[in-house]
Amino acid sequence: MTTVKYSLEDFTQDMESLLKSQPDNQKIFDQGSDWLERLVSNPDSIPMEFRVPLGVGPRPDHASRLLYQGESGLQVTAVVWGAGEHLGPHDHRTWGMIGILDNTLTETRYRRVDDRDVDGYAKLEKDRAASFKPGEITLLVPDTDEIHQMDNHTDRPTVEIHVYGSDLRGLQRSSYNLETGKITNFRTTKWDNC
Ligand SMILES: [Fe+2]
Repeated sequence: MTTVKYSLEDFTQDMESLLKSQPDNQKIFDQGSDWLERLVSNPDSIPMEFRVPLGVGPRPDHASRLLYQGESGLQVTAVVWGAGEHLGPHDHRTWGMIGILDNTLTETRYRRVDDRDVDGYAKLEKDRAASFKPGEITLLVPDTDEIHQMDNHTDRPTVEIHVYGSDLRGLQRSSYNLETGKITNFRTTKWDNC
């Protein structure tokens, strides 16, 4: 018997038809994470050209490339974290699902514990850290559990597939300084900050 592997096209079709029913986030996560798990369990799902660092520019060891952008807002990117790469705590302002395609990525989650009454200031506390391996999924839940830090503690690139409910370009988001509490607001113009 031939096993047909689950492709990127299968995944985006399944996600788009689910989103048409205007599901709540829990339904998106329940269904979508199963599909994303199938996608990242297929090592051939993403061509090699999407799995390599850029090699040029300010972050030559990194890459973030668009795989799909739907009119619904559904966005799928392939993200490469170079050996030793680090990205500090930031939020997303949309639901998200991240699946590991190759190697390992350590994600640290934070929660805000201040009263949000001081402009430009946030106190974060570490909630948990975990290392994710190929085929594993981590979820970004808007407002409640979406601030994370990413680290590749290994000596080779890690490849992930990121799925978001909105086009990250143009979304106002925030990054956080753990030492000073300073919030920096930013808008992504490309795929280089996921
Ligand atoms: Fe992120």
